[in-house]
Amino acid sequence: MAQTIEVTGLRKRYGDVRAVDGVTFAVEEGEFFGILGPNGAGKTTALEIIEGLREADEGQVSVLGMSPWPRNPGLLPRIGVQLQSSSFFERLTAREQLRTFGSLYGVPAGKSDAMLELVGLDGKADVPVEKLSGGQAQRLSIACALVHDPEIVFLDEPTAALDPQARRNLWDVLREISTGGRTVVLTTHYMDEAEILCDRVAIMDAGRILRLGPPAVLVRGLDAPARISVASGVLTAEDARLLPGADETGDDGVSLTISTRDPSAVVAAMAAKDALDGVQIRGATLEDVFLEVTGREYRA
Ligand SMILES: Nc1ncnc2c1ncn2[C@@H]1O[C@H](COP(=O)(O)OP(=O)(O)O)[C@@H](O)[C@H]1O
Ligand SMILES: [Mg+2]
Repeated sequence: MAQTIEVTGLRKRYGDVRAVDGVTFAVEEGEFFGILGPNGAGKTTALEIIEGLREADEGQVSVLGMSPWPRNPGLLPRIGVQLQSSSFFERLTAREQLRTFGSLYGVPAGKSDAMLELVGLDGKADVPVEKLSGGQAQRLSIACALVHDPEIVFLDEPTAALDPQARRNLWDVLREISTGGRTVVLTTHYMDEAEILCDRVAIMDAGRILRLGPPAVLVRGLDAPARISVASGVLTAEDARLLPGADETGDDGVSLTISTRDPSAVVAAMAAKDALDGVQIRGATLEDVFLEVTGREYRA
């Protein structure tokens, strides 16, 4: 696979803060790559260096075989950038906004307009940008990053500050833009989002990459117990403890949860007791991976 982005030994300090503290990774052509981490992890700084918006203190970056710094005019038309704090031209409608962005790259108006449809905003073409909802504004800023049909698109927390429904709706758009061989690099502080959207994720904290790989591989690598929960009261805590295969048990008054490395034995025993009301079985998630590598709870 061709490496579209190669980052080696990247470092950036702001005064005493080591925002990016020795980061190395590569992104393959066509990959949906996620940089995942809590606020302050260094995601935006790393992304801005790769995009050519910021100079690194140390390290090498290659994007499509070119160095993004100093600003490389040969690279700009081939990448699309959605900044964390996206700003629009004032008082323009969604359509005008997108046409204006498109015109910077010589994109004809008709092609810009077609981009509204891709992000599900065709019904909002005549709405001034100030009147768009948070989710709609995010869609428009993604459309602006895509209007010139770049080979790589960088999205910095595109779903931050959206309600859960708008966030899920945007996932469909993000999947859509990654089809056709385009490379997508996304930062997020949402674990679930990274798990669902990304081919591979780099889990970042305090300027470093702690784990890198496909979400499922990172999660399986944990060898974490399964958690089986049922409605409180279905089983007493004592009965739960005595189930064959049960490790730890807990009851928060709503759910009784049993962790186990032998879920078949536990579920079979619970079924025999007719104690499966409201049953849910969960494996580990990326949050558990974060807890394992940092020793602390994940707080976005
Ligand atoms: N322009 C800046 N000047 C000084 N410190 C900064 C600047 N930008 C970011 N930082 C600091 O660098 C660290 C990483 O920030 P950032 O890259 O924005 O992380 P993230 O995007 O993961 O939230 C944080 O401690 C942040 O406060
Ligand atoms: Mg950021």
